[in-house]
Amino acid sequence: MGLLSFSSLALTALAISTPLASAANAIFYPKINLTDTENNLIQAHGGAILRSASSDDNNWYWFGEDKTGLTNSGSFIGVNCYRSSNFVSWERVGHVLSPQDGTNISDSKIVERPKVIYNDKNSEYVMWFHGDNSSYGAAQVGVATSQTVDGQYSWKGNFKPFGNDSRDMTVWKDPDDGSAYLIYATNGNADFSIASLDSDYYYPNESLYTFEEKFWEAPGVFKIDGVFYLIFSRQDGWTPTDNFYMTSTSMAGPWSEATLLAPEGSYAYLTQNAYDIVIEGSKQVVYLYYGDHWSGNQLGSSTYAFHPTTHDGETLSLYKTGAWTLDLATGEWSDLPFDSITAADSTTPDTNLVPCEDGCAGGQAANMTSETSFSFTYSGGAGAKVLGIEYVYNGPKNRFLHIGVTLNGAQAEGNALMETTRGTTYAQEAPFPVELADGDEVTLKLLDADGNAFLIDGVKVYEDLR
Ligand SMILES: *[C@@H]1O[C@H](CO)[C@@H](O)[C@H](O)[C@H]1NC(C)=O
Ligand SMILES: *[C@@H]1O[C@H](CO)[C@@H](O)[C@H](O)[C@H]1NC(C)=O
Ligand SMILES: *[C@@H]1O[C@H](CO)[C@@H](O)[C@H](O)[C@H]1NC(C)=O
Ligand SMILES: *[C@@H]1O[C@H](CO)[C@@H](O)[C@H](O)[C@H]1NC(C)=O
Ligand SMILES: *[C@@H]1O[C@H](CO)[C@@H](O)[C@H](O)[C@H]1NC(C)=O
Ligand SMILES: *[C@@H]1O[C@H](CO)[C@@H](O)[C@H](O)[C@H]1NC(C)=O
Repeated sequence: MGLLSFSSLALTALAISTPLASAANAIFYPKINLTDTENNLIQAHGGAILRSASSDDNNWYWFGEDKTGLTNSGSFIGVNCYRSSNFVSWERVGHVLSPQDGTNISDSKIVERPKVIYNDKNSEYVMWFHGDNSSYGAAQVGVATSQTVDGQYSWKGNFKPFGNDSRDMTVWKDPDDGSAYLIYATNGNADFSIASLDSDYYYPNESLYTFEEKFWEAPGVFKIDGVFYLIFSRQDGWTPTDNFYMTSTSMAGPWSEATLLAPEGSYAYLTQNAYDIVIEGSKQVVYLYYGDHWSGNQLGSSTYAFHPTTHDGETLSLYKTGAWTLDLATGEWSDLPFDSITAADSTTPDTNLVPCEDGCAGGQAANMTSETSFSFTYSGGAGAKVLGIEYVYNGPKNRFLHIGVTLNGAQAEGNALMETTRGTTYAQEAPFPVELADGDEVTLKLLDADGNAFLIDGVKVYEDLR
């Protein structure tokens, strides 16, 4: 095809880019590399995001695992904390829990899934985490406390809830009555249990419900109109799996059947539930899903995905999007507009077009091998963009492929991690930030040699409004 014509939708984005980028508006590109205000990758995996209890503090606090430089081990580096008033600009506070030599949280141990809840009675923040040794045989929870949300958390110790093993977990506080709950995988990871916490939030108080022989993990909770939604995923190490939810009018159950949170085989758009955030806008409440996009061979390069959820009756769904904006004051959100380039429009002679299995726009996909490519000439106006590369990869487990982008023949910095999808033809979208000018020749190429079918349906071009 010839020069691109930018759609009126995209022009709208240009026209309103200033208000969109204002303090009250969050902008999300699921799975993009997120950096902090010092331009370092945000290291807050398996985390939690909450507001401070102080009414004059407008910030959100993001706690999570620092996995800097880690490949496939989870050794404890520190629990990081970041703060932001807009979910876009994150300032790193630093480690709020650090390794302590010769203890159950030394740098040879495991500290995963740190979650923080505020205890009103004691005016204290209480952090819970999965504490373990390097073989995951200790299987404990750990508890640490701080008087301030972003202070140093003082470690109280690790233990087994009710003497039983505990691995993947969360704690969740019911904002309506202050009761708090531990949800944890137990009995050798087979069972999934819910327990109430004591009034200090230091210990589990009473075991409330156990799902037996399920092999579930990554728990999180939304309470919507008095109904509890318990979100979780299947277990498969760092490999993506589907995420589900169940509902109940009591944390003690009975719980509904498990229902998919996103289409089967989309693996929750290649994420695993980390934390579920409620944003009370003046016009509507937003139930914001924050998932981890694990990079199983390079854990330190794992990214994050924020998706809005929609609910209709008691049906909860992750909303599929490549880029969206949320007005934090009103709770209103929408997809960012984009211009769309389909594979069938590719200008490179070596594009190997094949029929699209997933009904993509243009009807054809580019079959990407080390010999083929997909190109287009850009003409949407100069500036920072995010390419949303739409692809299908029906490859084996934990086989990561990378898409490189060249601009006018020169390699652009960065590469998009194409997830293994372990046997599915669900079309995913990977973000690739790039600076573009009119007339740029953009070429996508597979950087890895791989015989498996890897198909690109097309590319969406969004403004980069971060
Ligand atoms: C982890 O703890 C379990 C239970 O105490 C123990 O059997 C196992 O040997 C420990 N693993 C390591 C690597 O220390
Ligand atoms: C450390 O873990 C051991 C079990 O491996 C447990 O007996 C001990 O109470 C724990 N101590 C602390 C302070 O966490
Ligand atoms: C602890 O584990 C045992 C064995 O799986 C089980 O019978 C018991 O109910 C568990 N206790 C609690 C409080 O979950
Ligand atoms: C702890 O459990 C007991 C019953 O075992 C119950 O009476 C009490 O209210 C519970 N406390 C909290 C804080 O949930
Ligand atoms: C994201 O960051 C990782 C780690 O620094 C890097 O390898 C990768 O190329 C980056 N991806 C993009 C699209 O820039
Ligand atoms: C893509 O190309 C490879 C290599 O030529 C071939 O083996 C594969 O069957 C093609 N995939 C599709 C979906 O046509």
